[in-house]
Amino acid sequence: MPVIPEINAFSDDLVAIRRDFHEHPELGMEEVRTSGIVAELLKKWGVEVHTGIGKTGVVGVLNGNGPGRTIGLRADMDALPIEEKTNLPFASKTPGVMHACGHDAHTTMLLGAARYLAESKKFNGKAVFIFQPAEEGLGGAKAMLADALFDRFPCDEIYGMHNNPNGKPGKVGVKPGQAMAGADFFDIRIKASGSHAARPQESIDPIVIGTNLVQQLQSVVSRNVSPTEPIVLSITQIHAGAAYNVIPSDCTISGTMRFFDSDVANHVRKRIRDLCEGAATGYGVEVEFDNREIFSVLVNDENLSNVMVDIAADVVGEDQSTITDELTTGSEDFADMLHVIPGAYCTVGHEGTLPLHNDGFFLDESILPVGASIYAKLIEQRTAV
Ligand code: NI
Repeated sequence: MPVIPEINAFSDDLVAIRRDFHEHPELGMEEVRTSGIVAELLKKWGVEVHTGIGKTGVVGVLNGNGPGRTIGLRADMDALPIEEKTNLPFASKTPGVMHACGHDAHTTMLLGAARYLAESKKFNGKAVFIFQPAEEGLGGAKAMLADALFDRFPCDEIYGMHNNPNGKPGKVGVKPGQAMAGADFFDIRIKASGSHAARPQESIDPIVIGTNLVQQLQSVVSRNVSPTEPIVLSITQIHAGAAYNVIPSDCTISGTMRFFDSDVANHVRKRIRDLCEGAATGYGVEVEFDNREIFSVLVNDENLSNVMVDIAADVVGEDQSTITDELTTGSEDFADMLHVIPGAYCTVGHEGTLPLHNDGFFLDESILPVGASIYAKLIEQRTAV
């Protein structure tokens, strides 16, 4: 069975909404224009609107025809600090900011579901539409939870989705149980002692200490963790110095860890700290390890994973909607909501093939009515259970 015909009928409107969001991307916690449009459209369609939840978050509530369960659907709204290089006619007009993860489409798909459900009202119970800010490592889900999201809008189940530029339009996948990695972001600050580059004996060189430390950090996953435990430790930034003839005083190393098991994660955090302390003692400098636990492990409810696959199959076909056993080392802060309310998170494939977060990222807009239909069917079927 294809997408819901009523949604297909207004798919041009969805494309227009998505292109407008794409042209005017906003970074996490700054989604003022985006959330304003979301609130305005929801109101226009007769959905009860609550704004300012988790700063720029919006919640829409739509009552069905009679008593039933309450199902929450969540989309993210933020863009990334990337300079867009797509040359699309509706490319970002904001320098250095781009919807390179397709959150413009996620927001649009949830709006599409809300419009259809408000117009058709073929459900009992209640739909809660959660438009979340700041998914890209800035704690939008936690901010909404801290604003009592599920105390104010209790849900029996919640669902979310992410576009997947895998070149397979309409391919839906759900991984039951642990699905996406938890993630830490960290900075290691080496405070040493600079000098003239011609007189290194007068310095304690932070670049030598820092580059050694990077090599040592590479041994943590390979030597201190069981090969059967999936974990990633990537150093992604190293900053030091500004001149050819100066040994600087400081060096900062930054990176991320991705994990599925909290004991393993704690062990790796301890090893990083130990190596930092070793460098500090060995070289007689100060080494500060500043670690932030940003994302928790995303865990899909086993039963509801099957429910989501079955409902998505109504839209994309049974052979296209499947349970997968593939863990992803990417992270997603919907995980924080799934720790409070059971639910599931799926990926929906589309024709694009450039990876998420690429400055040329292309989103195939035929995904819009597909995602909106899956969301709408989740409400129609799960409120009635
Ligand atoms: Ni994303």
